[in-house]
Amino acid sequence: MVDFEFKEEKQSEAIVITIDGPAGSGKTTTAKELAKILDYRHLDSGALYRTLTFSLLSANVPTSRWDQLEETDLEGLKLQFIPEGDCIEMYYNQRKLSSELRSPEVTDNVSHVSSLGVVRNWLLGTQQMLGVHGGLVADGRDMGAAVFPEAEVKIFLTAELEIRARRRLLENIGEEISKEQFKEEMIRIEERDLADRSRKYSPLIRAEDSILVDTTTLSFKDQLIAVRNIVKDLTGV
Ligand code: DC
Repeated sequence: MVDFEFKEEKQSEAIVITIDGPAGSGKTTTAKELAKILDYRHLDSGALYRTLTFSLLSANVPTSRWDQLEETDLEGLKLQFIPEGDCIEMYYNQRKLSSELRSPEVTDNVSHVSSLGVVRNWLLGTQQMLGVHGGLVADGRDMGAAVFPEAEVKIFLTAELEIRARRRLLENIGEEISKEQFKEEMIRIEERDLADRSRKYSPLIRAEDSILVDTTTLSFKDQLIAVRNIVKDLTGV
């Protein structure tokens, strides 16, 4: 398990909320804002897989060796995931990571890392420990179906591919989007969706007891309100 510590504990009655969905569905921004509204902590589980990918690349572990990785190799990377305030910070070699995790190199390689059984197993206990006191909004691909099967609220966000690609580009490069960039982003997202849905271990699937929210025609504000209302209606929180 990854080295981590609790600096504070949230109220015992606080619940766990999971938000899953495909790339670009807006789950991370929604989860982050929802956590702020509720004064909960946000777990961006994609960032855990990105941290591992960044560390493997930084440690010059060749991609051809990734399929043979063992738990001891992962332990050897000396990662730290530390709850700080309303989020979980990721450290590699004592260095706090942020924008590095979104680099094209990490994005291109993270599907490979997240498809590995040893990686998913290794991160499972860590993620569950982060939710042990409740007060958590966790987003990712398998939060509701595998990591927090007992979560009080499970949401599955979705949106049409074109909309997801446009949102990603707006976030990364702003309003000036060429046709070529749009086409490339659609292909990239489609490839990642396919990899996430078809992998052997913990694929992206909608938990049976999750609530589906299609955000294709929703503004970000309306999407957040919809999710907030679901939580309130289901739990009174
Ligand atoms: O949400 P994201 O783009 O930061 O996710 C990065 C990658 O990690 C993506 O390829 C899917 C994978 N992932 C996963 O397999 N399981 C999760 N719970 C979260 C992310």
